[in-house]
Amino acid sequence: MAFSLQESKLPMLPFSVLIIISILGRSLHASDPPLTLDHYAPTCPSVFEIVKKEMECEVRSDPRNAALIVRLHFHDCFVQGCDGSVLLDDTITLQGEKKASASINSLGGFQIIDRIKSKIESECPGIVSCADILTIAARDAVLLVGGPYWDVPVGRKDSKTASLELAESNIPRADESLLSIITKFLYQGLSVTDLVALSGAHTIGSARCASFRARIYRDFETTSDRSPASETHLSSLKSRCPASGGGDNNISAMDYVTPNLFDNSFYHLLLKGDGLLNSDQELYSSMLGLETKNLVVKYAHDPVAFFQRFSYSMVKMGNITNPHSFVNGEIRTDCRFVNA
Ligand code: HEM
Repeated sequence: MAFSLQESKLPMLPFSVLIIISILGRSLHASDPPLTLDHYAPTCPSVFEIVKKEMECEVRSDPRNAALIVRLHFHDCFVQGCDGSVLLDDTITLQGEKKASASINSLGGFQIIDRIKSKIESECPGIVSCADILTIAARDAVLLVGGPYWDVPVGRKDSKTASLELAESNIPRADESLLSIITKFLYQGLSVTDLVALSGAHTIGSARCASFRARIYRDFETTSDRSPASETHLSSLKSRCPASGGGDNNISAMDYVTPNLFDNSFYHLLLKGDGLLNSDQELYSSMLGLETKNLVVKYAHDPVAFFQRFSYSMVKMGNITNPHSFVNGEIRTDCRFVNA
């Protein structure tokens, strides 16, 4: 009895800490950003059309491009808010975020944003921020691989700074505990429901062996239902990702059933215990994750609820603001560099 009491008290401490972090986080990004759907209507009415056309070409040429752009937007928003800071290259005077451990050898899609930006600059020079381009492109990316549509509020400014330090601390890693990842989301003003819905982005795209080696040689077999399909899948993962090291950059789809389709199959994989990333499987399998588990079950059984919540949560993530950028930000001419 004493043991069970103690057990029930244990999660209380982190929970109260989580609430405080949540409140603090919200106050950091509190006020609704002055973003609107028609911000560019008078100055660059064709912006949505241009992004859409370019993204159609990019995703047609390689569906992986959709995943790259969605992830890039996530990494942008979690560091100083969605302000294009992730796009900045290192220079003598500025240290960018591209060398952060969660991003190096892994983030991509920068050239896609460059190409869209240069099209937009030739049509409406100096008007549209790189942060907005990335946000719109992420919506189009999802839509082009079968995901939901949502309206994208715009009017973001681009930062004149980046933060490698914040990129290291704010962006969740695959080997992090569920509690720690929840804390990082709460800090950004995003809830546990946002976390589970947004993780559904892993229904597209790939991970490198370095990101899932520990998972496939440790507890994959414990969580997996060990169906013939799972067993075959696990041995193919192991052949591409040797235990002894090497092959760190070999990639595997996170949703091996429908890798290029934005659907809810990711959640079905978690129910089977076949999630590729440890952090994803924890949403369903962690003893501390009753709420996350229920949400995984819900989105596995109700694709409409998943699409609705994913859209809502993407807008919420896209609205994480950098209050500093609104005052001191700019419209970059080249997304990789602060204006001279
Ligand atoms: C919840 C915490 C999250 C963790 C721990 C996480 C971690 C990761 C990792 C480790 C990879 C593979 C990177 C590599 O091996 O190169 C990845 C890929 C990806 N992530 Fe996440 N992620 C999280 C949330 C998100 C969110 C919120 C989104 C977007 C809404 C997202 C979108 C993606 C996409 C689309 C890919 C595939 C990229 C590609 O194909 O290159 N992730 N993530």
